[in-house]
Amino acid sequence: MTVEPSSVSSSGTAESRPHHWWKSAVVYQIYPRSFADSNGDGTGDIPGIISKLDYLAQLGVDVVWLSPIYTSPMDDNGYDISNYQDVDPLFGSLDDLDELIAGLHERGIKLVMDLVVNHTSDEHPWFVESRNPKSPKRNWYWWRPPRKGATPGTPGAEPTNMEAAFSGPAWDYDEQSGEYYLHIFSRKQPDLNWENPKVRRAIYDMMRWWVDRGVDGFRMDVINLISKPDPLTDGRPEPGRQYVRAVKFVGQGPRLQEFLAEMNREVGLDAQNLLTVGEMPGVTIEMAREITDPANAELNMVFTFEHVDLDRMPEGSKWDLRPIELPALKKNLNEWQIGLADAGWNSLYFDNHDQPRAVSRFGDDGPEHRVNSAKTLGTVLHMHKGTPYIYQGEELGMTNSYFSNIEQYADIESVNYHADALSLGMEADAVLHSLSVKSRDNARTPMHWDDGSHAGFTEGIPWLPVNPNYVTINARAAIADANSVFHHFRRLIELRHDYRVVAEGRFELLLAGSEQIWAFTRTLDNQVLVVMANCSSAPVDVPADALPDLGRAQLLLATHRDAGSLRLLPWESRVYLLG
Ligand code: NOJ
Repeated sequence: MTVEPSSVSSSGTAESRPHHWWKSAVVYQIYPRSFADSNGDGTGDIPGIISKLDYLAQLGVDVVWLSPIYTSPMDDNGYDISNYQDVDPLFGSLDDLDELIAGLHERGIKLVMDLVVNHTSDEHPWFVESRNPKSPKRNWYWWRPPRKGATPGTPGAEPTNMEAAFSGPAWDYDEQSGEYYLHIFSRKQPDLNWENPKVRRAIYDMMRWWVDRGVDGFRMDVINLISKPDPLTDGRPEPGRQYVRAVKFVGQGPRLQEFLAEMNREVGLDAQNLLTVGEMPGVTIEMAREITDPANAELNMVFTFEHVDLDRMPEGSKWDLRPIELPALKKNLNEWQIGLADAGWNSLYFDNHDQPRAVSRFGDDGPEHRVNSAKTLGTVLHMHKGTPYIYQGEELGMTNSYFSNIEQYADIESVNYHADALSLGMEADAVLHSLSVKSRDNARTPMHWDDGSHAGFTEGIPWLPVNPNYVTINARAAIADANSVFHHFRRLIELRHDYRVVAEGRFELLLAGSEQIWAFTRTLDNQVLVVMANCSSAPVDVPADALPDLGRAQLLLATHRDAGSLRLLPWESRVYLLG
């Protein structure tokens, strides 16, 4: 059944969502367990978020993307869902969620929910039923017999040599039925079988239920993994390895675009002007262009991983570190700008709940340069063409936590990697170093609200240690300081709202080879935006002949007082408008 705009329920607000409204919007991601705790149990919750709505309104964001709040055993902090249509008691209730939606809408902010439908929890009733080989739900997941000739349940007997994203084989043996089930993530996250039309129908029904409840869109978790290669076969492992990372060859399966288009049609995603963004590890520019071309009616935008993979060794895992070169980072964003210039649309992000903190990774988080590097990273990102995403705390310049002890980590990926690496004989110090640079827990430490106990996040014991630098880096201090990172981000958001050239202007990279300067123009009709940034901790002179004549330019935003010269101080950035 196709859902026409006229079939939008009374709570649906398709009319209040103009066509392509998300092109001039800024999205703010909330990771609920780390945002604000209202009841002192040490974990953030929905009432906690409600208590901070005026903060979000003051920042000026248009949309909140809420990481999962659904019922979950919390093996992967809620990305393992056991009931798609209820709220986990840890976070509150459906009534709380309704109140959150209403509170956001009152402030003109939209809500985008996390949609995790590549997999469920193994405690979801669908999977519990599916464990029985005779059940009509057996075919809702990927069940396969052991490899021919191998002893079931022993290493190497898995149906294929896929490795899970969180270590170990991607197949788990179920003794009762003598078969394996596929899980690209943890063993508690079995993959749904999207080939089965009943699975797809159940998911679309659930999505419609959320739209009727008032949500304005979906961020779709690893959505490019939903169509599996047919048949599922062995991959070619790296020398010396037995398994191949599943994410490497399960993405972009043969029916991906068909499924996305069907979902769009059946749920009425475009028809109701909902925001859709698909997380897509391994997606190429060509594929992203097709998926986000409005003519194909699939998704509005995708999250690429290319730029956040630049600090890993080419054939290595995320833990095999290498330094990020500025020209490589600029080049990559430039390729995406060019690739999606005419059809499709970019999402813009440095930070999220899976990535280390941008200021620690791409900037300089030492006391001298933290503020200006956080601002300047914000400037370059937000002045690109696309929809920018801010992850909670990025607007304060929050830094990595740099845990030094494995006991401090809670993230399943980090904890499993540590155990795995040590069992393979890796040096404990090197493993801890990789974790301190790349662990997802760097982004997941509690939000800093003030300089009171536990950063004002909780009156209890926080589920993850608070970063001790909250004493100086916190929302209260930032709001009180007109020169803070917070107010810089607030102005960046205003620029996107106020100037069409920021939202829509054609992008052109300047000084591509510079190892310090990130400069570009944006052009729309007779307006030109000129952005120049020093992405280094040493001063630099911008060659005048590389820029348009700035004689009559208006300075819209700057990190420093404009010296009127083309010398940029460490992490200084400026945005000029011509015409
Ligand atoms: C991507 C999510 O962002 C991440 O947090 C999660 O662990 C995996 N998908 C599995 O759902």
